[in-house]
Amino acid sequence: MRSGKIDVKKLFDLSGRVVVLTGASGLLGTQYAIGLSQAGANVVLADIDYNRCNQLARDLQKKYGVDPLPVRVDITSKQSIKKMISQTIKKFSKIDVLVNNAVYPESKKERLVAFDKFPLLSWNKALAVNITSMFLSCQEVSRIMLRQKNGVIINVSSIYGLVAADQRIYGNS
Ligand SMILES: NC(=O)c1ccc[n+]([C@@H]2O[C@H](COP(=O)([O-])OP(=O)(O)OC[C@H]3O[C@@H](n4cnc5c(N)ncnc54)[C@H](O)[C@@H]3O)[C@@H](O)[C@H]2O)c1
Repeated sequence: MRSGKIDVKKLFDLSGRVVVLTGASGLLGTQYAIGLSQAGANVVLADIDYNRCNQLARDLQKKYGVDPLPVRVDITSKQSIKKMISQTIKKFSKIDVLVNNAVYPESKKERLVAFDKFPLLSWNKALAVNITSMFLSCQEVSRIMLRQKNGVIINVSSIYGLVAADQRIYGNS
C-alpha cells in the first residue's frame, strides 16, 4: 500500500496483526488507525463513540483492504472492556497489540473550564478515563497476551506528563 511516495509496508509491515486501539474515533486515534491500516494491520476501532468508528471502519476497509472491527466500549467499565476483548477474540482469535489512547475530557468546552471552577465530577471522570482505564485494559488484555506468550502494549501519554504547560502558547483560549 502506498502513501504519497512512501511504501509504508516496506518500512513497517503489520499484515495480519490485530491491534486494539482505544479512542479510535478521536483526533490522534483516527490517524493511528489510518497508519496501522496502511501497514496492513486489522484494527479494532474501540471508542465510546461507535458511529464514528463504524464509518472509519468502512473507509479503512475500502481504502486499505484490511478487516477493521468497530466496537463500542466504555473503557472505565471492566465489563465493557471484557466485552470488547471477547468481540475481538471471537473475530480474530488473538490480540497482538493494545494501544491505550482514549482520553477525557472529550469536548473543547470541558477543556476550557478554568482550574478554580473545574468540577470534582470532571476530575474524577478524568482519572477514571485517563488512568484507571489503562490499569483495567492492561490487566484484561495481558491475560490474553500471557496465554499467547506474546503481545505489545502501548500507553499513550503526553509531554505534559513530564513538563508543565507554558500557558503563553494558548493565549486567551
Ligand atoms: N491531540 C494532541 O495534541 C495530543 C498531544 C499530546 C498527547 N496526546 C494524547 O493522545 C491521546 C489522544 O488524544 P486526542 O487529542 O486524539 O484526543 P481526542 O479527545 O480527540 O480523542 C479521545 C477519544 O477518546 C474517546 N473516549 C473518551 N472517553 C472514553 C471512554 N470512557 N471509553 C472509550 N472511549 C472514550 C473519545 O470518544 C474520543 O474519541 C491522549 O492520550 C492524549 O493525552 C494528544
